[in-house]
Amino acid sequence: TPRAFSGIKPSGGLTLGNYLGAIKRFVDWQEAGTHETIYCVVDLHAITVWQDPDMLHAATREVAAGYLASGIDPVKSILFNQSQVPAHVELSWIFSCVARMGWMNRMTQWKEKAGKNAEKESLGLFAYPALMAADILLYHATHVPVGEDQKQHVELTRDIAQKFNHDYKVDFFPETLPVIEGPATRVMNLRDGTKKMSKSGESDMERINMTDDADTIAKKFKKAKTDPAPLPETMEGLKDRPEARNLVDIYAGLAGLSDEQVIAEYAGAGWGRFKPALADLAVAKLGPISAEMARLMADPAEIDRILAHGAEQARAVADPILTRTKEIVGFVQS
Ligand code: TYM
Repeated sequence: TPRAFSGIKPSGGLTLGNYLGAIKRFVDWQEAGTHETIYCVVDLHAITVWQDPDMLHAATREVAAGYLASGIDPVKSILFNQSQVPAHVELSWIFSCVARMGWMNRMTQWKEKAGKNAEKESLGLFAYPALMAADILLYHATHVPVGEDQKQHVELTRDIAQKFNHDYKVDFFPETLPVIEGPATRVMNLRDGTKKMSKSGESDMERINMTDDADTIAKKFKKAKTDPAPLPETMEGLKDRPEARNLVDIYAGLAGLSDEQVIAEYAGAGWGRFKPALADLAVAKLGPISAEMARLMADPAEIDRILAHGAEQARAVADPILTRTKEIVGFVQS
């Protein structure tokens, strides 16, 4: 069976963006049963920027709990944390020698994060896409469900695979496709509809955390920035209204509808009607998940056991692929 792979960094709490753009769709892939699904808590990626060790430890378990509470089933999917599978690091070194500096330099996320201060960033942050390519190709995964912001990195994965195959005259690593479909693949900041909702934004009011309680969720949507106009009658009417578009998109993602269907239902509605409906929907969808996350996080030993078991399964898939890669490269192995 073909494989799908994806990962989430434990660099803070999970947001509604991670849920709608990633986790919710990972569950769909798992349930579709067309692919073997492999999901990772990418702790090696998290340390590309400084992480307090205790926070990293807690965030790793929180992301694992988020996956599990949302419906990732460790019997149906492989669920593990990256640092327990050393093959990721080994393959990433080989890919660091295949990828070109210029490719990394062109990554928009690097350009945005590093800005004018690239000298002060870690070498790991620059090389990060080579590790991401290793994550995916170590399992010969062909499908990578991600949010819009990861598209370029998955495309780079394809370039690395191609150059490896070309340089070593093999047909070993498969072509990988980013899968970015449905609504809410780019959830925006609630205070500024031109910025992405992220784990690390300064103000907590700009994001919904998967662990927020009902009152907090309601308050954040109530205070979310909007323009004064009511919801339009057609999708066209959302053009140049980033905040309005975002709230419609979030509603669609949570409800399992298209943006068009949401517009059809709420054509002409004012925010006084739409925002409470959105808050109710979010509470209905996220409430049970955050309750389950809290239950799981109260028993960290159980989470650790699931991750350890997942890591064992991951190693069983990854190790032969790494061994073959080393053979291709010409390393002596005994
Ligand atoms: P990360 O941890 O930043 O985000 C995890 C996933 O959540 C998606 N996402 C969003 N989707 C919609 N709207 C948002 N506001 C939003 N914020 C985050 C991301 O697109 C991603 O799918 N480099 C990756 C992690 C990674 C990975 C991989 C992914 C490492 N190796 C291999 C796929 C395959 C990252 O930093 O994601």
